[in-house]
Amino acid sequence: MVAKTPVKLVAVDDDPLILDFIETALKQPGVEIHRSSDPAEGWELIRLHHPDIVILDLVMPKISGMDLLEWIMELDSGIDVVLLSSDYSTENAVEAIQKGACDYLTKPITPGALRERIGALIAVARTQVRAAEITDEMRNTSRFGEMVGGSPLMIEVYSRIRRIGPHYRIALVTGATGTGKELVARSLHQSSPASGRPFLVCNCAAIVETLFESELFGYVKGAFTGATQDRAGLFEAADGGTLFLDEIGEIPLHLQSKLLRVLQNNEVQRVGSHLLRKVDVRVIAATNRDLRELASKKLFREDLFYRLSMLEIRLPTLAERKEDVPLLQRHFLELFAAQLGQSVKSFTRRAQSVLSRYFWPGNIRELQNVIGHACMMSASDIIDIPDLPAYLHSRESSREGQGLLTLQEVEKRHVHAILGQVNGNKQEAAEILGISRATIYRILSQKEPE
Ligand SMILES: Nc1ncnc2c1ncn2[C@@H]1O[C@H](COP(=O)(O)OP(=O)(O)OP(=O)(O)O)[C@@H](O)[C@H]1O
Ligand SMILES: [Mg+2]
Repeated sequence: MVAKTPVKLVAVDDDPLILDFIETALKQPGVEIHRSSDPAEGWELIRLHHPDIVILDLVMPKISGMDLLEWIMELDSGIDVVLLSSDYSTENAVEAIQKGACDYLTKPITPGALRERIGALIAVARTQVRAAEITDEMRNTSRFGEMVGGSPLMIEVYSRIRRIGPHYRIALVTGATGTGKELVARSLHQSSPASGRPFLVCNCAAIVETLFESELFGYVKGAFTGATQDRAGLFEAADGGTLFLDEIGEIPLHLQSKLLRVLQNNEVQRVGSHLLRKVDVRVIAATNRDLRELASKKLFREDLFYRLSMLEIRLPTLAERKEDVPLLQRHFLELFAAQLGQSVKSFTRRAQSVLSRYFWPGNIRELQNVIGHACMMSASDIIDIPDLPAYLHSRESSREGQGLLTLQEVEKRHVHAILGQVNGNKQEAAEILGISRATIYRILSQKEPE
């Protein structure tokens, strides 16, 4: 599908005839061209439109193309900048490339050549613009309550919540840490007939073993030292609503049979009392452990496992639904912007690429923390690599650690390796590699995508 948002291009050249030439050569549907023959005004255009591509004349009065290039790289190093110069100079070309320009063209240039060089940049920008649009479109259709995500795996989760919500008495939510188990439990409760009633959380990992029973089922006065009065447990407190038993895998074995009995009979017995009290409680258990395996090792009661897992919702990891990452980023950006009273930020392309390449072992919670960190660190409207936590772009955490390199990375490393063998002699390295010295400079100056 064609992008609705145009690719934006700004051309700055003190010669209006060149601007006419650029405009005529590159004019096409889906490309918006802004131009100026005054560098200061050109800079304003760039800041205003935040273009995908900028074409700059090298020599201009007062502000040179090289100056503008530096400013643009400060603003967003992801912008593709092409320098145009009337006479070719290797020094200038190398300097431009080192400063972050992606191409250096010499005038005069034929319309065909310009179209070919810039056309490739337009094509890349177009896919990026389209990807951003898809993210926006998905955002509107990809929510369920507080949950964000439009991947097929998440749509399946929403569909299960919708189906299970109105009917469940017992449900199990499984998934790795930070995948949103508690959020799913809350949504289940919200879609149940008990939505107006309490939703209580019991974190089984945080309760001292000796206090488990009294926490869940309550106690009567004198049941143990310190029991100075009768007290209802969580089951009674959640009567009519939902009790969320988080980290159910941590519940001590001897209590599991008592819990199973409550789930079967809907009756609780306070510690120290013989009285059975009827309760009407929906139970949602959650765990990031493999209960089936625990059961097979006799570390979790098999009968309780079967009882809990009749209705199970399994949450995918973020790595299994990477297509949701941009959507979640956008969601958290808006959330933090509101919290911090900032305007909503965006990412530079290279920061975006770091985020897309990371494999998110801590899942959504980790993503949320990273975006929160970045929002606090960045002083401008754009989040760049330095605003992201350092570990994210460290070598081990990228795919590099697994030997998954891009061609560009492999190319650069190979050039470094050859240079190392010829004591840095670029001419010799160029001959060995079968490329020109300029190409070596270009490869070496390519920014690491981190
Ligand atoms: N689909 C989602 N959309 C938006 N935010 C989400 C989503 N899933 C989780 N979150 C947010 O991510 C954070 C972690 O989610 P949650 O606490 O539900 O994870 P969890 O699976 O219970 O993790 P743990 O196993 O560590 O307890 C929460 O702040 C939650 O609001
Ligand atoms: Mg949790």
